[in-house]
Amino acid sequence: MLTHAIPAQPIYEFAADVRAGLARRGQKELPSKYLYDDVGSALFEVISVLPEYGLTRADERLLRRHAYDIVDRLPTPVVVAELGSGSGKKTRWILEALTHHQHTSYCPIEISPTALAMCERELGDIDSVSIVGFEREYLDGLLEVAARREEGESLFVLFLGSTIGNFDRPAGIKFLRQVRRILQPGDALLLGSDLEKPIPQLILAYDDPLGVTAAFNLNLLARINRELDANFELHGFAHEARWNPQARSVEMHLRSLRKQKVTITEAGFSVEFAEGETIWTESSHKYSRYEMLQIAMATGFRCEAQWIDEEWPFAENLFIAA
Ligand SMILES: C[S@@+](CC[C@H](N)C(=O)[O-])C[C@H]1O[C@@H](n2cnc3c(N)ncnc32)[C@H](O)[C@@H]1O
Repeated sequence: MLTHAIPAQPIYEFAADVRAGLARRGQKELPSKYLYDDVGSALFEVISVLPEYGLTRADERLLRRHAYDIVDRLPTPVVVAELGSGSGKKTRWILEALTHHQHTSYCPIEISPTALAMCERELGDIDSVSIVGFEREYLDGLLEVAARREEGESLFVLFLGSTIGNFDRPAGIKFLRQVRRILQPGDALLLGSDLEKPIPQLILAYDDPLGVTAAFNLNLLARINRELDANFELHGFAHEARWNPQARSVEMHLRSLRKQKVTITEAGFSVEFAEGETIWTESSHKYSRYEMLQIAMATGFRCEAQWIDEEWPFAENLFIAA
């Protein structure tokens, strides 16, 4: 795989974001994109096979069952760009279906070099597919892929899993409008969205009894220790998943188990935590299938088709740029 790598998470930016998030008055926060270093990307792969986390299996079932129908609705030829591909495992169904129509350039866009390497291992064996990886933030990578497309080629953007759910609703709309601005009329976006389901089932998905999601969350503090020379004591924090009914999202937090002070040397500051205080690290918003149709209209797309998994309510939404 050819990879265009400009480290998407430079250390000075990481330090500045950590400082801004932990120095906030009120709720302390850390951006969820920093969950994905080498360890975090590997742990996410384990989460995706946990019995309690039905989301990835639902997404995979829909792609496996409907890949040919999805691909038949696309303009040809298409270049495929995937935002936050992770290991790209589920994308195999789409790429294999496309091989019946064309030779395909597949461009995974990832901030995690580990995820990009996994993606190459996972998909590098498909005949008629060339992989060009972009170690970039979503929109920077998409701009580059769009700039490289050739006359007559359309773009097919994949945003799978439920990564759109990591944005709050207004930010998600803003992000999809930005994606739309990079696309041309007729280009396509396949957007995964996890649907609302009983709250206990959702909480278990983000707080599994084996503690893998807890390790994924706590690794963020371990990463700050490793990369920014900080002294977080991991035993002093506990993973917490909670339902926010206003936002309709599952929030992940790290709760301080005692009053403590932590120094983050590379970010040039110290931060105090009260007992019980939390750091908010990720949100996973849940949608209704009808909301996705409204989101398409609000962001400059039309929803061409929607496929729903009934076993673990999840929607695959095919949006066409209007
Ligand atoms: C929740 S995982 C989903 C992975 C895969 N799409 C799936 O459905 O299993 C999100 C992925 O997006 C990547 N990511 C997170 N924030 C990003 C950003 N701002 N730009 C590019 N990639 C990002 C992470 O490294 C991670 O691999």
